[in-house]
Amino acid sequence: MRLPKVSLPELTLPDLSLQNLPLPGLDRLPFSSSSPSPADTHRRVLVTGGASGLGLALATAFLERGDRVIVADLAPTDDRPDSVPADAHYLRLDVRSEDEWQAARAEVEKIWGGLDVLVNNAGIAQGGRIEMLTEDDWRQIVDINLLGVARGCRTFVPILKAQGSGHLVNTASLAGLVHPPTMSSYTAVKAAVVAISESLRWELEPFGVDVSVLCPSFFRTNLASSLNASDPAASGFASKLIDRSERGADEIAAEVMTGLDAKQFLILPDPDARKSYRAKRFLPAAYARTMLGMGQKFAAATRATGGSGAEAGGTGATGT
Ligand SMILES: NC(=O)c1ccc[n+]([C@@H]2O[C@H](COP(=O)([O-])OP(=O)(O)OC[C@H]3O[C@@H](n4cnc5c(N)ncnc54)[C@H](O)[C@@H]3O)[C@@H](O)[C@H]2O)c1
Repeated sequence: MRLPKVSLPELTLPDLSLQNLPLPGLDRLPFSSSSPSPADTHRRVLVTGGASGLGLALATAFLERGDRVIVADLAPTDDRPDSVPADAHYLRLDVRSEDEWQAARAEVEKIWGGLDVLVNNAGIAQGGRIEMLTEDDWRQIVDINLLGVARGCRTFVPILKAQGSGHLVNTASLAGLVHPPTMSSYTAVKAAVVAISESLRWELEPFGVDVSVLCPSFFRTNLASSLNASDPAASGFASKLIDRSERGADEIAAEVMTGLDAKQFLILPDPDARKSYRAKRFLPAAYARTMLGMGQKFAAATRATGGSGAEAGGTGATGT
């Protein structure tokens, strides 16, 4: 196939010296749009994985501001989970199903005629040393955490482009930016969500569509219940980090809403996430020592217990 010829304006890199490189502030990394919009209300919002954890906290925060919300999750539409706020519309949407995405789009068009905010939030956790993660583990997490986001974007971007407005919000994780040991399948798909989000940011900006990617560190939710059984030591390690976090989903959601109002692209909604990301960028040697230390402690704990890693949860990681 012959590709059409496209002429690009001449691209030149700006003249940079170390001195005038922007040093990002802790709260606002340098990716926010130049024109923050006022907090709109009465927006039409769809949140996947909205019956629990961060999705539920975000759905509640949107509703409190006067937005209209569809909560989508795995339970059947006529068996609405009790957790879903009374003023939200509820819909079954398994993000693995192309048909259910099409049905969600039809429902959105029927009741609202369009969509202002899509929050691709549904996800599962997964831990595991590389040799213990099975191919089924990989397929499952790719299908939900990565393809689930891609399907959501593919389904709703045509509507947002046609409107000339809208906001795509993808829940990744700090694990998409910094990559601790024993969670390679999770870090891989979350890094991919960060990458999709950045590509779409440049692709959709000309059409008036904003993109944000959420990269929180660990916070308490039901996420640990989705952990796989292939490597109990690594799953136990991840489970402790989630369950013992000092933060809950409401705190993360409040920070996320502030970032969304500012049309920030990269939203790091907690101090641990900001600290880890900055350490990786600006203190690579210290970052490497921390990650290696985690790997060594995990290796020592699993060696001492013959691979079960009963002690591995005590590595004190601040990762993701
Ligand atoms: N909790 C954390 O420490 C943490 C940290 C960083 C990122 N995240 C991300 O935040 C997002 C939300 O997770 P959470 O912590 O609120 O967990 P959670 O388990 O409380 O909520 C996840 C929701 O997604 C739903 N879900 C799972 N598979 C689905 C599917 N195939 N289709 C539709 N819905 C599905 C679940 O039913 C659940 O309601 C996930 O993408 C997760 O990876 C969580």
